[in-house]
Amino acid sequence: MPGAAEHLDRILAEARGAIAGAESTQALAEIRAGFLGKKGSVSTVLRGIGDLAGAERAAVGKAANVTKGEIEALVAKRREALEGADQERVLAEHRLDVTLPGFAPPRGHLHPTSHIEREMCAFFTQMGYSIEDGPEVETDWNNFGGLNFPEDHPARDMQDTFFVPGGNVLRTHTSNVQIRAMTGQEPPFRFVCPGRVYRHDLDGTHYPMFHQIEAVCVDEQTTFADLKGTLFAFARHLFGESTDIRFRAHFFPFTEPSAELDIGWGGRWLEWGGCGMIHPRVLLNCGIDPERYQGFAFGMGIDRTAMIRWDIPNIQLLFDGDVRTAEQF
Ligand code: DAH
Repeated sequence: MPGAAEHLDRILAEARGAIAGAESTQALAEIRAGFLGKKGSVSTVLRGIGDLAGAERAAVGKAANVTKGEIEALVAKRREALEGADQERVLAEHRLDVTLPGFAPPRGHLHPTSHIEREMCAFFTQMGYSIEDGPEVETDWNNFGGLNFPEDHPARDMQDTFFVPGGNVLRTHTSNVQIRAMTGQEPPFRFVCPGRVYRHDLDGTHYPMFHQIEAVCVDEQTTFADLKGTLFAFARHLFGESTDIRFRAHFFPFTEPSAELDIGWGGRWLEWGGCGMIHPRVLLNCGIDPERYQGFAFGMGIDRTAMIRWDIPNIQLLFDGDVRTAEQF
């Protein structure tokens, strides 16, 4: 077959051009079939060698197989390039920008009651007071009896106090800690006690559970002037330097004299807490000699303090767990 070599050269050149121009693996497969498939041009040459004479048959056969191998190699190389490009494109399309800022989860913060409680405690720990703790389920003695409440005192009445089966109560004030912390101990004492208390009461300014902080200072020379100075400093620390306080004579069984404490706020007097000089009988109940020691105590609502500080109109806003309220602080 004269010119077989040239024919194969032309086929190869043609294949080289077609393969280089293939734009997809699909197009490449079709081009390959055009040369190497059953009816492809190289296959046709190979099929024709049967008609050739011996020597020529071997030469053309060999040349055709070489061409076939070269075309296969060109196809393989081009396929690799096309597949690589495909992958690049997919990667480019689905690119993930790891430098984009993430979605920040919402951050919580302290409840206003916790916030003011910490501030109130910090004021006292700074002055050398310790922090005492007491249980919310309390004996009648620690909540009432030891604090000099007579048996028939109205505060023991069913309307105020939650009674627990077995004779205990849910403590109605943090004053129970006076008895707990002082009994069997030797003064001087300086401590505060924040905590939950319970009363059968519910309206805009009362809730059945609320928080109080109790403060006690006992030494040989502690006077009402110390009480007054401490409360002035405390109020001004919490509400501002020009804050005024006022004492209104009052009665508590566990203090003598006793006063209710008002704070000047927004041009009015708001009731803030109770205070007084610890009654000698309370000291005696704790095993302390009232001839030698005397001291003051006071207690106020922590929630009430938060309400004053941030002008919160209703105590229930503090306890209904609505994040719209909490988020404002
Ligand atoms: N325990 C009183 C109450 O809950 C508040 C109080 C008044 C506490 C006078 C005191 C005090 O320590 O001296 O209403």
